[in-house]
Amino acid sequence: MSQLKPLIAGNWKMNGNKSLVSEFAQKFNSQAINEIDVLICPPSIYIDELAKQVEAHKSVLNVGAQNVSEQDSGAFTGEISVDMLKEVKASFAIVGHSERRAIFGESPQLVALKYKQALANGITPILCTGETEQEREDDKTFDVIATDINVVVELVGIEALKNGVIAYEPVWAIGTGKSATPEQAQAVHHFIRGHLAKYDAEVAQGVRILYGGSVNENNAAELFKQNDINGALVGGASLVSDKFMTICNNAQSSK
Ligand code: PGA
Repeated sequence: MSQLKPLIAGNWKMNGNKSLVSEFAQKFNSQAINEIDVLICPPSIYIDELAKQVEAHKSVLNVGAQNVSEQDSGAFTGEISVDMLKEVKASFAIVGHSERRAIFGESPQLVALKYKQALANGITPILCTGETEQEREDDKTFDVIATDINVVVELVGIEALKNGVIAYEPVWAIGTGKSATPEQAQAVHHFIRGHLAKYDAEVAQGVRILYGGSVNENNAAELFKQNDINGALVGGASLVSDKFMTICNNAQSSK
């Protein structure tokens, strides 16, 4: 892990409930967490509750969303706007998670618009990118990732990326129990930083690049030893407070 402050983000997906929200807010306090940023992205219906519990328990948790609309407001049934997220005190939003790209058909262009909308409204976007198993076999990993990043850079400009986060999430590693090895992950993180550096070296050095895909309490420490890994985006293991705490502790001690 480099000198950038690690970020450990939990993506609860369509899981969790109010009691889990309260358990996390109580557990993740300043005694437990002090040298890293920790974020929970619950289902949007629980964001407000999480923010309130964080305040009540003086928790250090940051509050985020799993998705955000690229539109300001209007007839977009089921969507959630940046203003709504801000009102309930969300400060991060995941954009372009592979499940949203695959299941809901989000294109790189749409994801870039969401990234722009979040950033323009003071919400830190976490841009997810990663290859499928087939793309890896076909040697297209770097092409897929470069495309996702280029579309965003073309829309918002490279300078804007320094205020965002990137998450490398190989699709074949998500929810499969088959994490990328630390070396595989580092190789892609190194590529991402190098790719950003072609636009702007300073921005490249300042961007946190998280690894996601079957991160758990057993493999996190080795991943965090890699130079270009600045934290993790955690799915399954972020639903169990002890496991998520171990991952956070691993990030703290890797500093
Ligand atoms: P996982 O999910 O940790 O359950 O593999 C990661 C993610 O989808 O962000």
